[in-house]
Amino acid sequence: MIQRWVRLIWPHSLANRTALVLLAGLALVQGGGLLIYTLDRIDLLRLAEAQSLGLRVSNVYRSVVMSAPDERQAGLRGLDEASDFAATLDAGPATSDLEPAPPPVQRAIRISMQFAPIPQGMRWRELLVRGVPSQRRLLVSMRLPDGEWLNVRVTIGRFLPFLSETFLVSFLLMTLAAAVPVIWAVRQFSAPMRDLAAAAERLGMDVNSPPLPEQGTAEAVKAARAFNIMAERIRRFVRDRTFLLTAIGHDLRTPITRLKLRAEWMDDEEQQRKMLADLDELEAMVAATLAFGRDDANAEPPTPLDLVELLRTILDEAGDAHPDAAEAISFTGPDHQVVRARPVAIKRALTNLVQNAVKYGGGAQVSLAPPQEGAVSVMVEDTGPGIPASELERVFEPFHRLEPSRNRETGGTGLGLPISRNILRAHGGDVVLTNRPGGGIRALVTLPV
Ligand SMILES: Nc1ncnc2c1ncn2[C@@H]1O[C@H](COP(=O)(O)OP(=O)(O)O)[C@@H](O)[C@H]1O
Ligand SMILES: [Mg+2]
Repeated sequence: MIQRWVRLIWPHSLANRTALVLLAGLALVQGGGLLIYTLDRIDLLRLAEAQSLGLRVSNVYRSVVMSAPDERQAGLRGLDEASDFAATLDAGPATSDLEPAPPPVQRAIRISMQFAPIPQGMRWRELLVRGVPSQRRLLVSMRLPDGEWLNVRVTIGRFLPFLSETFLVSFLLMTLAAAVPVIWAVRQFSAPMRDLAAAAERLGMDVNSPPLPEQGTAEAVKAARAFNIMAERIRRFVRDRTFLLTAIGHDLRTPITRLKLRAEWMDDEEQQRKMLADLDELEAMVAATLAFGRDDANAEPPTPLDLVELLRTILDEAGDAHPDAAEAISFTGPDHQVVRARPVAIKRALTNLVQNAVKYGGGAQVSLAPPQEGAVSVMVEDTGPGIPASELERVFEPFHRLEPSRNRETGGTGLGLPISRNILRAHGGDVVLTNRPGGGIRALVTLPV
C-alpha cells in the first residue's frame, strides 16, 4: 500500500527525482528557518504585550489611588475596562495557582509601569506579577500606600503564528523562488544523459550517424568522447568485415573463370554440363556477395522517403517481371508514409521479400500499417507452401536454401533474406517470417519512422 504510493509520487526521470529531493530539502530547511524566526517573534510580541498590559494596569491603579477611599470600590465597578480585565480591592494579594512571571515579563511590566504619571507619595509599595504567558492569564497585585491591595487579573489573547497569512505566503513564495532555479539547473545537468541516449538510439539505426558534440561539463565531455570512440570502433569493425567479404568475393572470380575455361576441355559432356552449372551458381553467389558489399560500402545517407511510393514501385516491377503472378500482387494501406532510410538499400531489402513471395508463394499481398510505438510495419504475404517451422529462422543464414527451391533451380543464391535482415537491422528495424494460418508466408517488416 505504502509502496504503491511511493511509486506513484516518486518520479521516474533523474531530473525530476533530483528536483523533488532538492525542493523537499529546501522546504524543510525553510520551514525550520521560519519556525525559528516565528518563535523569536512570539517572544518579542509577548514582551510588547506585557508592556502595554503594564501601562493599562498602571492606569487602573492611578484611577483607584487618586479617588477618595470610600469611592474606590464604586470606581472599580464603574471602571470601563475591556472584558479581559478584572480588578478588585482586597486586604491582601490575591491567592492564585499561577506561578511567578518569568523575569523578562516581570521586567517589561515593571518598566512600563515605571512611567505611569502617578504622584510620588501615591506610588505602590509592593508589586507582584504572577502568571506565565503560555498560560494566558496574568495576575498583578499592588499594595496601596494605605495598606489595601489592588488585584488585577488579565486574560491574554492567543497567538496563532503558523496560521498567519504572512507565514504561509512567505513559505510559498520562497519555495517557488527556489523551485525555478532548481528545476532549470537539474534539467540542464541531465541534458547530456538524454543526448547520450538519443545518440545511442541513432547509432543503432545508422552506424554512420554524426558523432556526439563533446561539450558541457567535464563528465559530459568524457562520456561523449567515450561514446564517439566506441562508435568509431564499431564503424571500423563493420567496414573491415565488409571489406574482407568483398575482397574474398572479388578474388574468387578469377579462379572461377579459370575453372570454367578448364571445363570446356572436359570430354564427358554430362559431367561438363553439371560442372558448368555449378560454376554458374558459384558465380551468382559471388556476384550477390559483391553487390551486397558494394551497397554497404557506398553508405548512402539516410533521407526521408515515401515508403508507400517505394512499395508500389517494387510491386509494379515484380508484376512486370512475373506477368503470370500479376493478378496476385496487391497493396493495401495509406497513400503516404514517410520514413527516414537509405533509399537503395531499403528498396533492395523490400524487393527481396516481394520477390520471394512471388517466386515461392505465387503472389504478394503487401499491406502497410500506420506507425505504432515509433515504427511502421509492412506485411508481405503469400499463399504458397510456407516454410517448415524449424526453418523459419535458418533461412536467414547466408546461402541457406530449402530443398524445393534448390531443385526448382529458381536462380536464387540464398542471400536474399540475410541481406534483407541485415539492411533492416541497420535501419533499427527487423524482419521476421511466420507461417500464415491458412498457408503461405507472412514476412513482417518493422521500420522506425
Ligand atoms: N515466401 C516464401 N515461401 C516459401 N519459401 C520461402 C519464401 N521465402 C523464402 N523462402 C525459402 O527461403 C530460402 C532463402 O530465401 P532467400 O534468402 O531469399 O534466398 P533465395 O531466394 O535466393 O533462394 C529460399 O530458397 C526459399 O527456400
Ligand atoms: Mg530470395
